[in-house]
Amino acid sequence: MTEGRRVFSNVIFSQIDIHRKWGGVYPSLAKREHEEKIEPVIKRALEIARVKLEKIGAVAVTFGPGLVIALEVGIRKARELAERSRRPLIPVDHLEGHIYSCFAQNQKGKPERDFQFPFLALIVSGGHTSLVMVKDHLDYEVIGQTLDDALGEALDKAAKVLGLGYPGGPIIEKLAEKGDPDYLKLPLPLTRDSRLAFSYSGLKTAFKNQLTKMSPPEVVRNLPHLAASFQEKAFNHLLNKLSRAIDERKPVLVTGGGGVIANKKLRRSIRSLVKEKGIKVYFPRADKLIGDNAAMIGVVADYKYRKKIYLEDDFDRLDRVARPNFRIWTKGK
Ligand code: KG4
Ligand code: ZN
Repeated sequence: MTEGRRVFSNVIFSQIDIHRKWGGVYPSLAKREHEEKIEPVIKRALEIARVKLEKIGAVAVTFGPGLVIALEVGIRKARELAERSRRPLIPVDHLEGHIYSCFAQNQKGKPERDFQFPFLALIVSGGHTSLVMVKDHLDYEVIGQTLDDALGEALDKAAKVLGLGYPGGPIIEKLAEKGDPDYLKLPLPLTRDSRLAFSYSGLKTAFKNQLTKMSPPEVVRNLPHLAASFQEKAFNHLLNKLSRAIDERKPVLVTGGGGVIANKKLRRSIRSLVKEKGIKVYFPRADKLIGDNAAMIGVVADYKYRKKIYLEDDFDRLDRVARPNFRIWTKGK
């Protein structure tokens, strides 16, 4: 439940424990869990915010990108709520949510954080590594994306080849704190490529190749060094391209969102880079706003509501609009 940028409840049912057993997201389980948990999660969100369904102004829903069978569960439920409350239904792109997550406030309207355009949004998650110029509210230009794996996905895969659990990002982070990042010689991706693009598959392959030269006990003994070496190169690649994007596009502000932003080392490095460039950086103000959550979707929805970006009469189309691929929704702008 959000009002403007203020968050009154942000209920998350995490499926991580369920997917951990499979070493990743297992689609049919994800769908079933969404179906089972969506009612209680909505009920709880209304209870915490002390709001009755009849009193809400609009219903916002994530349209994509993501796993279609899971997105559809949300879209169907949102459509039902919008019909029942006779309020508009507002389509929000998952990536827009991660961008606006940096501007979500607590119930008292803190932190204030004015929007300053144009700003550069960095999104780093299990599915995305993207640089987006935000020229005005809801006006985006995607200036950089990954050519293969996303940063979070690369960390998850590195953890997997090391025999560690899922999701790998936080495990690698913890191990890397005690490791030597120069232990393994790994290539820094796309250094001679002037594009604002990311690539993690070459780094992953180089990492795997180095591991095959080590005995299993040697790998186990050196886990912190291995984690630190991989993480260092993965982050340096991100920082290089972020630096280039700032130089080229001269934003007044940088924002960082998505699960990988939970990484403290990464946040420190981004802070110092951005400071060097003489501009500001915002990260989401609370941990719950970093990974996937509904509050960030609500915050975007307010700006769409003001511009009447609704799906008014086209309810029948909705189930087919779940979009697995990246394209920020700008219809009606
Ligand atoms: O945004 P998110 O919760 O879901 C997606 O939209 O993908 O991001 C999940 C990703 C996973 O790849 C996970 O390993 C990574 O975020 N992650 C981290 C940390 N916490 C989560 N990566 C590095 N350090 C962390 N502390
Ligand atoms: Zn996400």
